[in-house]
Amino acid sequence: MHDPSLKLIGRAAELGRLAAAVGDVAAGRFRAVSITGSPGIGKTRLLAELGRHAGERGFTVMTGRATEFERCFPFAVYVEALTPWSQPDPGDAEARAALEALVSISRGDRESEARIDRYRLYRGISRLLETAPGSIALLLDDLHWADQPSLELTEYLLRKPPRGGLLVAVAHRPAPLPIGVVAALPQADDQAIFLDLQPLEEKDLAEFFPGAAPHRRRLLHRASAGNPLYLNALADASEPVLAGLTGGEYPAGGPRALQALLLAELNVLPGELRQVAQALAVAGDQASLDLVAWIAETGEEDAADALDRLCAHGAVIPTDAFFAFRHPLLRAAVYREAGMGWRTRAHERAAAYLDAHRGPVTLLAHHVQRSARQGDERAADILHDAAAGLLDFAPATASRLLRTALRVLPAREDLTSRRMDMLLALARAVASLGELAESREILEEVLLGPDPTSVEAAGFASVLSRLMGDLDAAKHLLTRALSRSSQAAAILAELAAIDSLRLDSAEAWRYGLAALDQAGELDDQVLVAAAHSLLALNAAQQARAGDAHTHAEQAARLVDSATDSELRPHAGLLAPLALVEAQLNLRDRAARHLAKGLELVGYQGLNHGFPFLRIVEVVLLTREGRLCAAVAAAEEAAELAAFPNSQELTVTLRAAALPALLWLHGPQTALAAADELIAHGLPRSAWWSELTRLNLATVNFHAGRVDACLAQLTAGPWSPMTAVGAGIYRQALHAISAARFNDLHSALLLSDLGLADAKGAGLDHQLGAAHEARAEVLLQYGELEEALPHASAAAAYFADAKAPIDEGRARQLLATLHSRNGDATAMREELARAKARYTECSAAWLERQLARTELRMAATLTRRTQEPAGLSSREQQIAELAGSGLTNREIAQRLYLSPKTVEAHLARIFVKLDVRSRVELARRLAEGTSLEHSP
Ligand SMILES: Nc1ncnc2c1ncn2[C@@H]1O[C@H](COP(=O)(O)OP(=O)(O)OP(=O)(O)O)[C@@H](O)[C@H]1O
Ligand SMILES: [Mg+2]
Repeated sequence: MHDPSLKLIGRAAELGRLAAAVGDVAAGRFRAVSITGSPGIGKTRLLAELGRHAGERGFTVMTGRATEFERCFPFAVYVEALTPWSQPDPGDAEARAALEALVSISRGDRESEARIDRYRLYRGISRLLETAPGSIALLLDDLHWADQPSLELTEYLLRKPPRGGLLVAVAHRPAPLPIGVVAALPQADDQAIFLDLQPLEEKDLAEFFPGAAPHRRRLLHRASAGNPLYLNALADASEPVLAGLTGGEYPAGGPRALQALLLAELNVLPGELRQVAQALAVAGDQASLDLVAWIAETGEEDAADALDRLCAHGAVIPTDAFFAFRHPLLRAAVYREAGMGWRTRAHERAAAYLDAHRGPVTLLAHHVQRSARQGDERAADILHDAAAGLLDFAPATASRLLRTALRVLPAREDLTSRRMDMLLALARAVASLGELAESREILEEVLLGPDPTSVEAAGFASVLSRLMGDLDAAKHLLTRALSRSSQAAAILAELAAIDSLRLDSAEAWRYGLAALDQAGELDDQVLVAAAHSLLALNAAQQARAGDAHTHAEQAARLVDSATDSELRPHAGLLAPLALVEAQLNLRDRAARHLAKGLELVGYQGLNHGFPFLRIVEVVLLTREGRLCAAVAAAEEAAELAAFPNSQELTVTLRAAALPALLWLHGPQTALAAADELIAHGLPRSAWWSELTRLNLATVNFHAGRVDACLAQLTAGPWSPMTAVGAGIYRQALHAISAARFNDLHSALLLSDLGLADAKGAGLDHQLGAAHEARAEVLLQYGELEEALPHASAAAAYFADAKAPIDEGRARQLLATLHSRNGDATAMREELARAKARYTECSAAWLERQLARTELRMAATLTRRTQEPAGLSSREQQIAELAGSGLTNREIAQRLYLSPKTVEAHLARIFVKLDVRSRVELARRLAEGTSLEHSP
């Protein structure tokens, strides 16, 4: 046989490009390499060359590869690549946790503490590559066979490459194409190298077979079609055989023809050796001697002897304590040749052996998966067990195992509850993979099953519906479950939550009270807390601060005395609680409860509390002026929401971050983000939809698109609720934009209503917003004296609510008012305060905008000192028009005001100038006296 360790033939161009990439990576950059080509064409070989070259330049080289028959080993490619490299200990905690999780999965630990959820694993691996010293080459081979989790992780790393010098090289056949990975490869030419390997040329064969005559080389080239693996196999073939193959069986004959050829090599071996070879093919790579012996049904000594001989023959290569075939194609050929029946029994033997010896659970599940028969209860249990440990970690693998488990589980009455558990687990796995609708369908059967699984299923179905924004469906599901269940408290609480999201306050209140009642009877304190926190939210939504306070107190007391494990199943309750507490200015408490909720929920996008907690996090961070943190939190959460594929949540989160983006980067950036967001459609849940639309309107307003802002605000539906929903803020923005639009009547009316509502609700932040709006409107119409107290009230309320950005904006407004009044000292004072707030929050755009305002104000101030005091610019305008003989109606038309407004202005002008009629006013004007206030 030809020696495959011989030097590399041809491929000069490819090597040149790879060397360049290695150079770039050595300089601290990220590069991706994709190697494709037909079986045996030399992908692995080229990857090895790349690894060797990188190694020579001092890189840490990590190689992992997928195998054909083991697709249910989660992260197998990364286990192989990264676990040998666990020294030295990565300093980074996230990296360490990820590595430990991989080690635990590779050992197939049954119940491991190390197991973490997917997102954290991805991030940890990314950190591992980022924090490792020096440059790294991560070589991933045979990705066409890779398990789903390995593929997903590769996609993640390619889409968000860790910083620092890293080379990720992937190799795969054209089919089956790892589509996600291919799509994730960087498109920029300088970032990625794409190598599609072609057959070797005839001239290359001179190097391959230096001793062969030209005629023989030509025959070899024709027979092999330039495929190096084929060339290797044919190296010793006689000329008549070669001539017979010249029809070009390969690649036309495909891998099968190649496999037949490879088998010819083994066919000369005695039967017992082939039996061991087949056992090895079943056992898979890294097979241990005892397992191979057991599968082959020989003693260990005989097996060892046979393996030695296979090694000597060159078909098998020993690595550490394990054995593997020389080439995956050879293994595939042997595996297939063993025949379906023998293979199935061989897997069955492997499973029995591993089961009895408590072998690694994933390995056990793999053999069970390949041998389980219909009605095999034990097999179903094994698969279920293995899947349960993988749900958060590798849902794709878990769903594969569960589907087999459900298929083989006997259809017996007494196994119903086990079947329901499996279905529930399957629904979770499927949802994690982003198939929300399919997941809900799977739940249908569970919902009709017995308690308590059906209650759990109802809760989970509700989570799915929330993520899909389909609250009506959630409500329907829950009310149906309610009618059948004996465990009503949890369902009632969930119904209250759903109705809060639907902004149906009456129903939410009713369910909240019922939940409180039931939970009290059950003496379930955490559920009681959940009910109180929902009631608090509801009271706040209905602008009843007193009730909100009472319920929030009760909830907080219970939550603070509960343990983490008690709280965990209801971690979602902490979101409404934190939100209400923030509204009540109980800031530290709000922060503590939010942090606890986030900690308990972790990175599980499918956790019940996840959406609400994450949205509240973004809203509160923005309010506190931690703008970068708000944007980052929204981004991270949106990334997580992409796992279960929840458009609803992604859009809401990004919308929640719009104000922070605005204050940081200005309206252009925010507008671009808003446009991108609208392209996905608005959220369907009433509350999230209102939040999103309000923020879109805010961005439009600041981008100077007042008409678009007004259109957004007037297009319904908006709920009548005020306090926690968008209500008061919407009214405020509406009033200000109406004023900008010269619709004084609406502006005054809206700001007045808003103020009354806010006073009724009694919550500081909203009072701030309502006063601010009132001041803005009055300023627009030149009512400086009246505007001033509102603006300072706004600033004070915002300061109390610890909302620095809002306070800064109110102070900026105050400064404007002072400048109009000619009070330069007060103006400067407020400007300085506003600036301090913006700087505190690094609100770059607001700072720039403030600097511009400052210049404008200085100019106004100079002009102002030369102008008559007393009349606002609007009043001055009206006075002049009235003096020139226009009627109120004519003035109104000209200034786009209502006649009533003009009348009101004139009345004030008369008082200020101490004139009693238009005639007198005209005379004062004609006399040429300035419109100065009479002494
Ligand atoms: N350019 C080359 N020069 C010398 N030997 C080569 C060359 N390319 C490949 N080989 C040898 O040919 C055999 C098949 O190559 P390799 O395993 O790299 O193919 P592959 O494309 O990875 O196939 P598969 O799709 O089955 O993984 C190996 O023994 C390898 O060493
Ligand atoms: Mg290969």
